[in-house]
Amino acid sequence: MAVCGRNLSKLPENYREKCPRLSGYSVDVTDRDGLVAAVQTFANSGEKGLDIMVANAGISVGSKTRIPQFSAAVKIMNVNVIGVLNTMEGALEIMRAQGHGHIVAVSSVAGFVGLPGAAAYSASKSAVTTLMESWSIDLAPENIAVTTICPGFIDTPLTQQNPHAMPFMMSSEKGAQIIRRAIDKKKALLLFPWQMRWLILFLNKLPRFIYRRIMTLPFANFSKG
Ligand SMILES: NC(=O)c1ccc[n+]([C@@H]2O[C@H](COP(=O)([O-])OP(=O)(O)OC[C@H]3O[C@@H](n4cnc5c(N)ncnc54)[C@H](OP(=O)(O)O)[C@@H]3O)[C@@H](O)[C@H]2O)c1
Repeated sequence: MAVCGRNLSKLPENYREKCPRLSGYSVDVTDRDGLVAAVQTFANSGEKGLDIMVANAGISVGSKTRIPQFSAAVKIMNVNVIGVLNTMEGALEIMRAQGHGHIVAVSSVAGFVGLPGAAAYSASKSAVTTLMESWSIDLAPENIAVTTICPGFIDTPLTQQNPHAMPFMMSSEKGAQIIRRAIDKKKALLLFPWQMRWLILFLNKLPRFIYRRIMTLPFANFSKG
């Protein structure tokens, strides 16, 4: 088992004692060659092969204005979309060769609608969700399962920076349990919590002029989940 991130000092100091089989790779998901090499190193290590790859890295850049911030948008697209492509490129080469595997991406409910104040984040998560849906069809004959996780608001450092209301917020521990169960069951798509699932699917199905009207109302000032 391994985790990747740019900053491994975020792991608990005693993580090796608590989880001796866990290895850490310091790598940036936008660095395609570094990431593919890290995945290869892991697969050739004691673990021999790769059962599951979870593309979780994602960012959301806070902004005080709704005027498009293009440099922030490019950063978001690079991590949230190109990062997922790089992650899956490394994994799929190994999984196709071994004849089985399971790829998981952490997308967001924000990918089902264009959320105001979070244009690039919403667009990046739409891209991830549709990429994964296409791959779930394309990779089935290769015996590779595909799971897309779309959380609502989870209490993590990413949301702790949000100044706006975050309805149906869930603890990271509870969120992790729900995600773990969906991965174990190889669910194709998980939208949670259920209140956010129904809200976002309702907003997604509305005629778009009604959606736009609703999202200008003061109570609808939430985004970046
Ligand atoms: N929290 C929510 O409410 C929520 C809701 C829906 C979806 N999500 C999605 O869930 C995922 C995890 O988010 P989170 O809430 O746990 O955020 P977080 O606490 O800010 O964690 C983000 C993780 O991504 C890693 N990361 C960021 N940029 C990276 C890069 N360039 N290369 C490698 N790793 C990178 C970070 O590790 P390093 O800093 O060490 O690199 C960190 O482990 C994201 O994809 C996010 O969009 C979160």
